[in-house]
Amino acid sequence: QNEQAVITIQADQPRQTISKHIYGHFAEHLGRCIYDGFWVDPAMNVNKDGRIRMDIVDALRDINIPNLRWPGGCYADEYQWRDGIGDPAKRPVTLNSHWGGVTEDNSFGTDEFMKLCNLLGCEPYLSANMGTSTPKDLRDWIEYLNFDGKTHLTQLREQNGHKEPYGVSFFGIGNESWGCGGNMTPEHYSEQYRIFQEYARNYSNHPIKKIASGPNSTDYNWMEVCLKKIPQYALWGISLHYYTIATGNWGQKGSSTDFDEKEYFGGVKNALYMDTLLKNYAAMMNKYDPAKKIALVVDEWGIWTEVEPGTNPGFLYQQNTMRDALIAASTLNIFNNHSDRVRMANLAQAINVLQALILTDKEKILLTPTYHIFKMYKVHQEANLLESSVSVNDYKYGTESIPGVNVSASKGEDGKIHVSVVNLNPNKAVPASVILNGYNAKQIKGELLTSASYTDYNSFDEPDKIVTKEYKGFKKENDGKITMKLPPLSIVTLEIQ
Ligand code: AHR
Repeated sequence: QNEQAVITIQADQPRQTISKHIYGHFAEHLGRCIYDGFWVDPAMNVNKDGRIRMDIVDALRDINIPNLRWPGGCYADEYQWRDGIGDPAKRPVTLNSHWGGVTEDNSFGTDEFMKLCNLLGCEPYLSANMGTSTPKDLRDWIEYLNFDGKTHLTQLREQNGHKEPYGVSFFGIGNESWGCGGNMTPEHYSEQYRIFQEYARNYSNHPIKKIASGPNSTDYNWMEVCLKKIPQYALWGISLHYYTIATGNWGQKGSSTDFDEKEYFGGVKNALYMDTLLKNYAAMMNKYDPAKKIALVVDEWGIWTEVEPGTNPGFLYQQNTMRDALIAASTLNIFNNHSDRVRMANLAQAINVLQALILTDKEKILLTPTYHIFKMYKVHQEANLLESSVSVNDYKYGTESIPGVNVSASKGEDGKIHVSVVNLNPNKAVPASVILNGYNAKQIKGELLTSASYTDYNSFDEPDKIVTKEYKGFKKENDGKITMKLPPLSIVTLEIQ
């Protein structure tokens, strides 16, 4: 181990494709994610398509959003899709009993979500209700969405403005079925899943990619039971949910902006735990599915803090700091490096909820540091993973220590290599050298995201405090190595040709 980080990349041995779906997002009927987020009051003076906010759409198109998960989360297992179609004036007002006990006018339903995905240019990922619904509801929803012939349901779709089938593929069946999705045992869930998935039929050449509700964090037993009891043909994927709690205590999660080094360290350390989880789940899945046909779908991840003071505790509105950017970048490095098994993931959540990409205040929006990471990292979507390793001194706090630097690398179809390096150490710039085995770099460009403190954030008064900048702190040495200096709390992506 060194004072200097030595990063070695097997540049001449491209491995599997990093699925773009690892860079997916999540929009729940929760707080101000849909209502007053994506979907705004008709009177609001912003550029809109119907009631969909186009500044948000443009920002998400800019990061190549590949898929969007909807309508929950916990809300999915309360959601009755029929309440959200047809004449908006006739849609029932229902209760969102899980998130803030607010009423739901159902003005944003299936057809509105499909239109949003179309504007975003991304694939829809629907989360189907198992907790308070029936296999028939799932069956009918898919007929409404995907069937090509004339039936009562497809005629309804036509009346609602969409003659052609939508052709949705990604369907989650149940959400957190071990908790808010029905408080089931894994045995019971697996039996239910076998029934529900049977009616998730492929219509008109639109095959469904079925995703089972997998474990929470370290619930290895849940995963093992599902893998044993659900036939493999019935699983495109199985999900994993893991949230970073900086304090390690769900009862007192800590502030999003007001924290010391102890809590900073706790945040990044607990985020890095994703790597351990993925290693363990991958090992278990390899036992049952050595051909790696079943995807691990991390469809909820991110840091979860206390809400901003004075906001509705049921709305999960939190600010987003430089710590969040480092967590996002490190997690995406972990996903890239596990992309043989992790083929989809969804940050929680896109707008105004948890580790958001975008925050809004009436007409204003701001792009969070996490947003800027997704923009920097979009170069890895659909590129081939390059194996990388890093040797460096640990970042120590008190008696604990974590690797101070992490990395992932890929090679795109255009032949460009991208290396994304994270320095988690808040106290030290780290000198680094990048060794590209089997590749002679001719041209190098760099991009950097950093800030003086881990508590820095973009506010509505100062929305561009943390933005990416060109990075010039590298040098190609005579022996072909690239040397550079990584500022404290920084993320650097090198583009190498
Ligand atoms: O993302 C917020 C909530 O976290 C989701 O609704 C639920 O699935 C998870 O517990």
